[in-house]
Amino acid sequence: NSPVVVAIDGPSGSGKSTVSRAVASRLGLSFLDTGAMYRAMTWWMLTNGVDVDDPEAVAIACAKPVVVSGTDAAGPTITVDGQDVSGPIRGPEVTAKVSAVAAVPAVRARLVELQRGCAAHAARGIVAEGRDMGSVVFPDATVKVFLTASEQARSERRAAELRAKGLDEATITAMAADLARRDAADSSRETAPLTRAADAELVDTSELTLDQVIGTITALVEDRA
Ligand code: C5P
Repeated sequence: NSPVVVAIDGPSGSGKSTVSRAVASRLGLSFLDTGAMYRAMTWWMLTNGVDVDDPEAVAIACAKPVVVSGTDAAGPTITVDGQDVSGPIRGPEVTAKVSAVAAVPAVRARLVELQRGCAAHAARGIVAEGRDMGSVVFPDATVKVFLTASEQARSERRAAELRAKGLDEATITAMAADLARRDAADSSRETAPLTRAADAELVDTSELTLDQVIGTITALVEDRA
């Protein structure tokens, strides 16, 4: 029996992270947040003065940092050159630039290799979430899911999350615009754009509760594993 790979893709705000982590916990699988790896790479470039708007500079620099991603669904940590960057990679500076860095083919080649390595080392299998898990990184995944939600549902969820963190309305509006820009960039880039693989199950989460989405995906995996 080859290890189970559950590939979950979708735009920001589709509920991907929460859902993927919960499915991994429920099934006793490892968990891989590939967005965190692109963020960690971006954080390192910003910290080391690399011009992230220059694809050639990014392509050269991306060979240097050592990005290591934890795969514990309960609390994955991510380190760059041994430093835990789980906090800083969620900041607005990284969020604003991550799509530009992720569009560079050399960056993707390097991180995809690491992602496949994580899956190969996961004892019982892995839930991997991102933008190109089903389409590029794990073409033979046991289960592929493409999560969507209406634009409105996604922005309402994101706003509720930010309000709960105590952010003011002006910041929330600015972040919504940033999110729309990032999704457009991720969907239209040349290398590995956000796309639904032909054999991915489409799950529209607009009208579903979190528990329903988790239940749907868990059932798909239990059917096929
Ligand atoms: O999932 P998250 O929003 O943290 O991802 C941050 C960014 O990383 C995305 O906007 C996208 O540019 C990039 N990404 C990617 N491929 C993946 C995962 C994330 O290009 N598999």
